[in-house]
Amino acid sequence: MLRIEQLTKRFGDKKAVDTATFTIDQPAMVGIIGRSGAGKSTLLRMINRLADASEGRIVFDGQDVTQLKGAEKRQWQSRCAMIFQQFNLVPRMDVVSNVLHGTLNRRSTLATMFNLFPQDDIHKAIEILDRLGIAEQAPKRAEALSGGQQQRVAIARALMQDPAMILADEPIASLDPMNAQIVMDALRRIHEEDGRMVVANLHTLDTARRYCDRVIGMRDGCIVFDGTPEQLTTGVARDIYGAGAEFSEAATSTAIETLDRTRTAFVPA
Ligand SMILES: Nc1ncnc2c1ncn2[C@@H]1O[C@H](COP(=O)(O)OP(=O)(O)O)[C@@H](O)[C@H]1O
Ligand SMILES: [Mg+2]
Repeated sequence: MLRIEQLTKRFGDKKAVDTATFTIDQPAMVGIIGRSGAGKSTLLRMINRLADASEGRIVFDGQDVTQLKGAEKRQWQSRCAMIFQQFNLVPRMDVVSNVLHGTLNRRSTLATMFNLFPQDDIHKAIEILDRLGIAEQAPKRAEALSGGQQQRVAIARALMQDPAMILADEPIASLDPMNAQIVMDALRRIHEEDGRMVVANLHTLDTARRYCDRVIGMRDGCIVFDGTPEQLTTGVARDIYGAGAEFSEAATSTAIETLDRTRTAFVPA
């Protein structure tokens, strides 16, 4: 499915991502970990073509997406929907309109200008919000919602594009542990039920271990680990984070583990 070949991004003399190579050959849920500055965001941004690679290739289902331009590039960008730490919603706009913005790339300029959304799309948006447990928030302004709710709106907006892949750049870094769990549960469920690939940059080890089938560790732009959560031992983690003997797992913990495990996020679809 997704093949990353020798992917490199230079900023001046610095390699933010250095010959990254890996293949994700089924719609897995993959976590990317590493300390701040390791190159995680740059890697995701290159996959989504928000940033251009300096060298190397990104191949998806046999197509080289590294070279796409114009409409083809925008089409690719809607196939690999991105969500961000800061949600990137339009704060003063209502929730359902924010979600419908996920369809902008296939709407006419005129329809966009007058904020005209097809009835089918509105129903679909409400259905997706319902699936994420926030349908009742639909008429509210995005800024009136909690962080956890806003991130679910961003996920709903991503799902409107019916993406093959969701790229999540530290989706829970701004959330408290309970909302972090709700959002990670949502991503996991979307992965399992829809068969969508999820690639998430995660700032904490425990989240990667708990939710991901596979974990990629980055250090100084290089991939230094690629394996299962079981293989991600404390020793390996210490190496990824470049920490010495003082390394403590607690320092990279979201503490989701300590929460009540009752699932509150969803009403089954
Ligand atoms: N636009 C940019 N211009 C210059 N340097 C950048 C830019 N974006 C990222 N970098 C540098 O590239 C490295 C990797 O950054 P980033 O991908 O944001 O890491 P992470 O997401 O793992 O924290 C860092 O050293 C960062 O300072
Ligand atoms: Mg980052």
